[in-house]
Amino acid sequence: MKLYVLHENPEWYAPLAGAFDRAGLPHEQWLLGEAAFDLAEEPPAGVYWSRMSASSHTRGHPFAKDQTRGVLAWLESRGRTVVNGRRVLDLEVSKVEQLAALAAAGFDVPRTIAVAGSGELAAAARKLPVPFISKHNQGGKGLGVRKFDSHRDFDAYLAGPDYESPADGITLLQEFLVAAQPRITRVEVVGGEYIYAITADTARGGFQLCPADACAIGTTGPQESLFAVRTGFSHPVIGRYIDFADRHGIGIAGFEFIETADGRLVTYDINTTTNYNAEIEAAAPRSALAAVTGYLGRLLAAERAQG
Ligand SMILES: Nc1ncnc2c1ncn2[C@@H]1O[C@H](COP(=O)(O)OP(=O)(O)O)[C@@H](O)[C@H]1O
Ligand SMILES: [Mg+2]
Repeated sequence: MKLYVLHENPEWYAPLAGAFDRAGLPHEQWLLGEAAFDLAEEPPAGVYWSRMSASSHTRGHPFAKDQTRGVLAWLESRGRTVVNGRRVLDLEVSKVEQLAALAAAGFDVPRTIAVAGSGELAAAARKLPVPFISKHNQGGKGLGVRKFDSHRDFDAYLAGPDYESPADGITLLQEFLVAAQPRITRVEVVGGEYIYAITADTARGGFQLCPADACAIGTTGPQESLFAVRTGFSHPVIGRYIDFADRHGIGIAGFEFIETADGRLVTYDINTTTNYNAEIEAAAPRSALAAVTGYLGRLLAAERAQG
């Protein structure tokens, strides 16, 4: 019996495969960019972990998201144990779904207007004061995230060559959160446990803050990392993230928040396909990758015990 990892980017597999090998967990990746499955068949016994990413379309896999929806529905209909299953994919690929669920659970979220198509964008933006942010509903790695200091600048962007249309046609217009310090925090949760929090330096890093080693931007020399372990972070929001994850069937996720200059703690992004940064892993009090391996290993053992 194996662990099956569903995703579309083979570059992300090596660190995971290494950790599974070290833990003695049999594993296989299932690449979903172009893959077939037969609904009439029984899926192999095992534990499935979906890592389908919101940015899969940017790697030449425009159908991976929808194929994964089908695969997850099939696996779940056959009673398979799925980590970050069908519901979680909906959250991963839609910031609107994330924000709606977070707000319903009582989290402070940024005021957001979702606009389908581009015809209504200019008018909708005028409902927000400046500055405001635009971003893609199906995001990840900072897709389409831009700050506008005037509505005219936004009009010019919409009419100009830099305009990027979102994969699902939906653009979010969002309140700009003024951070007390130029950083965001990401809280990593695995299998109902808090693992660690990291900060990302937004003064240097801008809006593209993917901590994965695979996302490292090529530089000409050694550069101080944008990411740091947020040591000693202890806050009631951690317990609330764990409860939220539990209620939505999220096994593995990173929750991002900004602490604003006026004292709010605003949650604005949930990442269910985090790639852990090797430097952070080495510096943190415990390894998130080891926590993932332990969690999946326990699920696999439970599956084996059931026969
Ligand atoms: N409403 C906002 N106000 C201020 N900064 C924001 C806001 N939304 C996003 N950002 C910045 O842009 C980055 C990327 O946005 P995010 O919503 O996390 O998209 P992605 O899913 O692509 O990571 C954030 O980490 C943060 O630094
Ligand atoms: Mg983010």
